[in-house]
Amino acid sequence: MGLISVVRFLAPYLPLLPVEASLGCRPPGPVVPRPRDISRHALFTQATNKLRDALESVLVGDLEAGWAVENTSFSIGLHDSETRILPGPLGAFSVSSALGDATVPVWEYHHLAPTNTNGTKDLTRHSQYLVGSVSKVISDYILLRSGLDLDESVVVFLPELASAESLIAWNDVTLRHLANQVAGIPPNYGFSEYYYLKDYFESLGFPHIDDEAYAPCGITGLNSGCTREQFLKGMVEIHPVARPAERPVYSNIAFTLLMYAVGGQTGRNYSELLKTYVSIPLGLTNTVVSPGDDSKAVIPPVDNSWGSNYGDNAPGGGLVSSLSDLSVFIHGILDRSIFDSDTAVHEWLKPTSSTGSLYSLVGAPWEIFRAQNLTPDHPHVVDIYAKGGSAYGYQAQIAVVDEYGAGIVLLTAGSTLASSFIYDAILNMIVPTLDEIARIQAIEGGYAGTFVVGPVGSSTASSLATNRESERVTFNVTVTQDKDSLVLQCIERNGTDILASFQEIWSVTIGGFLALTPLKARMFPIDIRGKDSTTMLDGDERNILRQDWRIEWDLAPNGHTDLPGAGLSAGNCLAWTLTDWMYYGSDPIDRIVFVLDAGSGEVIGLEIPYLRSGILQPAKVF
Ligand SMILES: *[C@@H]1O[C@H](CO)[C@@H](O)[C@H](O)[C@H]1NC(C)=O
Ligand SMILES: *[C@@H]1O[C@H](CO)[C@@H](O)[C@H](O)[C@H]1NC(C)=O
Ligand SMILES: *[C@@H]1O[C@H](CO)[C@@H](O)[C@H](O)[C@H]1NC(C)=O
Ligand SMILES: *[C@@H]1O[C@H](CO)[C@@H](O)[C@H](O)[C@H]1NC(C)=O
Ligand SMILES: *[C@@H]1O[C@H](CO)[C@@H](O)[C@H](O)[C@H]1NC(C)=O
Repeated sequence: MGLISVVRFLAPYLPLLPVEASLGCRPPGPVVPRPRDISRHALFTQATNKLRDALESVLVGDLEAGWAVENTSFSIGLHDSETRILPGPLGAFSVSSALGDATVPVWEYHHLAPTNTNGTKDLTRHSQYLVGSVSKVISDYILLRSGLDLDESVVVFLPELASAESLIAWNDVTLRHLANQVAGIPPNYGFSEYYYLKDYFESLGFPHIDDEAYAPCGITGLNSGCTREQFLKGMVEIHPVARPAERPVYSNIAFTLLMYAVGGQTGRNYSELLKTYVSIPLGLTNTVVSPGDDSKAVIPPVDNSWGSNYGDNAPGGGLVSSLSDLSVFIHGILDRSIFDSDTAVHEWLKPTSSTGSLYSLVGAPWEIFRAQNLTPDHPHVVDIYAKGGSAYGYQAQIAVVDEYGAGIVLLTAGSTLASSFIYDAILNMIVPTLDEIARIQAIEGGYAGTFVVGPVGSSTASSLATNRESERVTFNVTVTQDKDSLVLQCIERNGTDILASFQEIWSVTIGGFLALTPLKARMFPIDIRGKDSTTMLDGDERNILRQDWRIEWDLAPNGHTDLPGAGLSAGNCLAWTLTDWMYYGSDPIDRIVFVLDAGSGEVIGLEIPYLRSGILQPAKVF
């Protein structure tokens, strides 16, 4: 992972450029280690109490809600990434754990609207809601679990699409394109028609058309839902929206096609796939193809789709789920247990296409929001891997804020306006708190401070390794925290300022091909840890683990020109290409290793491998 940031050069001839935060070019990932044990942290309690107060103020009318409060029920769950126990196959809890089971969020809030007369009277985390397009996340998960080769053409699985007459180049459309919303195919087939408003359209000046002009199936009010044969036949008659792999085009029918493909290979229909790959392994009890269970359902008094049969459209938007089930799912992403490897989770969260906005990317089927203003005290981009969903009368939102190991599940029934207002309030009130907790815990955990080994006989020399004892080298490494990140303030080796030496060396190495000057050495954790091992420290045998960090220099461009545009391309942030660039005797000069107590996670030492420092220890305060 590359970790170098560029400070925009703010020359007087570029007066209109905004001052960029120092973390402007940092690749995604935590700034300091993810916060731990948030449910017991006073700041988290404070923030969730404030959120609860705000929600209660709008519910009683002290603050303006912006939605029909009397008609709207909702459930909110916040999640962390600490290890939890899965409910186990078919919801049978086999083990209990101090941290509880994965169906229980670290914080939850439920509100049942008084006018919610149908459905459940007891709104809990196990109550069922329609989740609309959040279903796409589950369907993509089924696809990824199925083991199908995502880079095969969809035609391999659905030969019906291989028609020479087709306007859509189905041969070029892969399963991956469909999963990532870049197939360039329409959102819907049939569903996009408003046949039941035909007269209204005509009254507003649209030409009269005959019923034969409509597709032969899937038109509400005209004909019935499409059979698989009708649907696939329709697919070779519809217009493409974009070329495959060119740009994101939101598509519900992509998910119908994907589940046909997986179903064809496995001999299972969608509800069986859902059971096989999701509900049984994760122990989900409320995630089913609509219709759900009326007695457990949150059914709003407004027009709604509860009880609908989505037919073969279900993979794109026809699932019912609950806060408890989505908690398990989100938690599995946060603690990486949802796949067999961390790599698979990282890969799943990666965007594959961009949108018109710098801050909005598209994945499988993640709607990735690169939020800029969430942590005003420590400005940096926070990536939110999210998916929203809608059904008549229902809005759902799930979000993974991976930097903090945090997740959000929000389910609403009633007004369509409530979801985004509540979601924004959660982001606004919770994310800055998680950021603050992480920074406080970095200090409490011992990441900042002075790490030393002194001359033999000095008070801090207790851990001198024998090979250095003969060399009599002293070290003083000082790590501080500024507004943005941890900073490597000083490395003194036997009295020489190594950071100053590095800057000299830069000018005859990297500086030889890049017109940039390193200013400040920022440090970021990377998710690389050694195995537990034991070592002697202060005469005790300690169980330790090594945690890798990398230095990312704030860089300033050199030189000056009177040509227009100077500094423009610095915004391209190419400094990430310098990570791990320079070595000294097989060790990279940007690698810093924190040595943690394997039990408590406290920092008990620091190593600078390229300087052969051995384990330096926190300077004792006298
Ligand atoms: C899926 O298959 C199961 C078991 O064969 C069957 O009970 C169910 O009705 C099928 N579902 C659909 C939507 O066809
Ligand atoms: C409750 O459900 C019944 C039957 O579907 C329906 O007729 C009625 O309008 C619903 N009541 C409310 C308040 O939604
Ligand atoms: C709440 O729902 C009822 C029934 O659909 C409707 O008559 C009423 O206008 C709604 N209230 C608001 C504030 O939208
Ligand atoms: C470190 O400094 C001490 C004291 O100046 C000196 O005696 C020693 O030789 C130095 N060690 C190395 C390896 O340079
Ligand atoms: C280490 O260096 C820092 C910063 O230069 C200094 O404040 C501190 O006194 C030094 N500590 C020791 C133990 O030498």
